[in-house]
Amino acid sequence: MAKSSNIPTIFLLSSLLILALLPTNHAIFSRTISKEEIGIKDDDKQTHLTFYYHDTLSGSNPSSIQIAKAKSTDTSPTMFGALSMMDDPLTEGPEPTSKLVGRAQGMYGFADQQESALLMVMNFYFLEGQYNGSTLSVLGRDAMNDSVREMPVIGGTGTFRFAKGYVQAKTQTFDQKTGDAVVLFNVFVNHASSVSGQSGGGSTSSDGAPSSSQATPSKIMSLSFFMIPILYLCIF
Ligand SMILES: *[C@@H]1O[C@H](CO)[C@@H](O)[C@H](O)[C@H]1NC(C)=O
Ligand SMILES: *[C@@H]1O[C@H](CO)[C@@H](O)[C@H](O)[C@H]1NC(C)=O
Repeated sequence: MAKSSNIPTIFLLSSLLILALLPTNHAIFSRTISKEEIGIKDDDKQTHLTFYYHDTLSGSNPSSIQIAKAKSTDTSPTMFGALSMMDDPLTEGPEPTSKLVGRAQGMYGFADQQESALLMVMNFYFLEGQYNGSTLSVLGRDAMNDSVREMPVIGGTGTFRFAKGYVQAKTQTFDQKTGDAVVLFNVFVNHASSVSGQSGGGSTSSDGAPSSSQATPSKIMSLSFFMIPILYLCIF
């Protein structure tokens, strides 16, 4: 009698047990890991990159377009308030026909009321060799009238994971009429070096999370939580 009334309960608990054993798709919120676990070596690597940046405002297919400005921008001697979005090619040599090594994608805004100085927010998206798919993020101040402008590299992905460094930008040519510019970039970055065999490329197929064992503490907990009443019901 008592047994038959327990059948739905057993059924319910068994279903819950199965649910508890199904893989959960959330990770552990926080834990300490080793460098090896995310495929990097103890020693950092230093890399120096040199390329030319082509910011083209003129023509039918400009690589940089103005996306916003204030009413007062037109009367500002420094274009204060203007904001542009760019997708500029980066090449090995100064000629636009030179080999493409990446793109500079981001924004620059005229952020100074006294002189010509930009706020630069951009990602260098590399397309060449071992750097294909990797990125470096630059956020800094570009005082265009200075012969060399230094801006920080604040991070990176792929080959450039954990990147920190700086760039030095030097204008090669600037067309006063159109605003078209070719700028030489020297990039110096300190970044993680990956364990051999790991490409460390850009977009990988994995979700980027370090692999963790299947038997998480919470799964073991819920397993024993459901096993005890089921065993009890089966025995009595
Ligand atoms: C860069 O990677 C993309 C996507 O994997 C590939 O199509 C392209 O050919 C690669 N380019 C070079 C120069 O290796
Ligand atoms: C900066 O350069 C621009 C363009 O070459 C020029 O018009 C402007 O007068 C310069 N400003 C300063 C403060 O040197």
